[in-house]
Amino acid sequence: MRVEDFLAEVDLAFGGDPQTSEPRDPAFAEIAATVNGYTSANELAVLNAAARVLPADECYLEVGSYKGRSMCAAVRGVSDKAFYIVENYLEFGMQGQEARAELERNLRTHAAHADVRLIEGNCFSLLRRPGVIDRPVGVYFYDGEHTGLSHYLALGIIEPWLADEAVVLVDDATYPMVSGAHEEFIARHPQWRVERRWDAETNGDPRWANGLHALSFRRDEDTARGSAEPWDVRWRRLTYLSSLGPGQKAAWTAIHRFPELIPLAKKLYPSKRASSIDSRGTQERPSEQGES
Ligand SMILES: C[S@@+](CC[C@H](N)C(=O)[O-])C[C@H]1O[C@@H](n2cnc3c(N)ncnc32)[C@H](O)[C@@H]1O
Repeated sequence: MRVEDFLAEVDLAFGGDPQTSEPRDPAFAEIAATVNGYTSANELAVLNAAARVLPADECYLEVGSYKGRSMCAAVRGVSDKAFYIVENYLEFGMQGQEARAELERNLRTHAAHADVRLIEGNCFSLLRRPGVIDRPVGVYFYDGEHTGLSHYLALGIIEPWLADEAVVLVDDATYPMVSGAHEEFIARHPQWRVERRWDAETNGDPRWANGLHALSFRRDEDTARGSAEPWDVRWRRLTYLSSLGPGQKAAWTAIHRFPELIPLAKKLYPSKRASSIDSRGTQERPSEQGES
């Protein structure tokens, strides 16, 4: 995937500077208004621009679909490419079948023309399994859990799967812990850089939600296919799998079963996720949260 093609396509998708203007295609605002989720119309237009210029022998991979808003937009007008979703249905106290049913309904409405492949499970274990994806990832959109460790690992875990040149889109990137994680990662991995920062001016900014950063990756001999997992990624992955991941799973399960824990969760985890937990331990509609 040529990063410069992506940047040019983004410019075409907006009437002016993307930071301060709206997408030319009103369909993205329509998707944001009608499909339950978190991404804003501007973010959706950027995801779609990436999908449009992706070569057909590479794929688009999204971690964190929730009910499918971002995927419904990514596939708009794109019928000849492969799209993967990795989702563990863990956050927001979602019940797997219920959430999956809504995702599938939305995909039937907006993505029936597209080749969308859903892989259920935790990205940090799944993406270590050989053969789970059938071609190099040209576009990677990470919108999974937002701890500093997860964000660092989100880049490390995908690197072996990436095409030799790839675009990586990171949601909620205006949060300092998110941009801090990718800046720390990039400082150790010079094959990566930040190409564009579309930051949110406020939490839940109407144009950019909580911010979107576009990163690029260009493979070199230090990252040649088959290279050993770098130590900075390995120790974080093992830490995540042994403690943070299971801890988060237990916490979300407890919140769903014992809604009286919600005030405590909001104190401990003051992100958009905690603020969106309602009294049943499920997620409110974004229109009710003032977030899109
Ligand atoms: C903010 S939501 C995604 C929003 C969605 N992209 C949209 O456009 O509305 C984050 C999703 O990531 C999923 N998730 C979080 N951590 C994950 C992980 N480690 N592996 C797979 N999915 C994960 C959660 O279950 C949740 O559905």
